[in-house]
Amino acid sequence: MEDKIRVLLSEEEVDKKIEEIGARISKDYQGKAVHMICILKGGIFFTCELAKRISVPVSMDFMSVSSYGADTKSSGVVKIIKDLDEPLDGKDVLIVEDIIDSGRTLSYLIEIFKKRNPKSVRLCTLLDKPERRVTDVKVDYVGFNIPDKFVVGYGLDYNQKYRNLPYIGVVEFE
Ligand code: IMP
Ligand code: MG
Repeated sequence: MEDKIRVLLSEEEVDKKIEEIGARISKDYQGKAVHMICILKGGIFFTCELAKRISVPVSMDFMSVSSYGADTKSSGVVKIIKDLDEPLDGKDVLIVEDIIDSGRTLSYLIEIFKKRNPKSVRLCTLLDKPERRVTDVKVDYVGFNIPDKFVVGYGLDYNQKYRNLPYIGVVEFE
């Protein structure tokens, strides 16, 4: 059965926002290099688009975590499926995430990363659902605050589908 998907943020709106965030990061990291950590799988599209718009030197690493299974609600358990390839010692780390919901995934990851001696750790997310927060996380760069709706596209999935949509859409559950 086809799911109904309503456009929440168009491709143009998302592109424009990423351009803005890229410019801010380039300014904030002047004279430094950014070590981007993409949180797979959802963060992949945002990470690539953002990286192209950052003018200071960029390196990248990838971490894969899962907290949801096939459900649309957080289980509160964060499982590391793939750890980083490189150490973080002395690096200016920028975590890049698709969406922050309860905040559990990120507060857990930030704690792990801080123990690896980075010079700094900042967090960048394309989407934020602040209403849903159960764990406090400081987000340094936010694309859009969105209402408490289940969204897909631009890396975000529903049962592994719709990651490739070039916009952010709301799944209208029957
Ligand atoms: P948190 O630990 O509750 O903050 O969950 C964050 C993760 O849940 C994100 O990285 C997404 O993978 C997933 N997630 C949260 N909300 C949505 C949504 O609306 N659509 C798709 N995935 C979501
Ligand atoms: Mg994610």
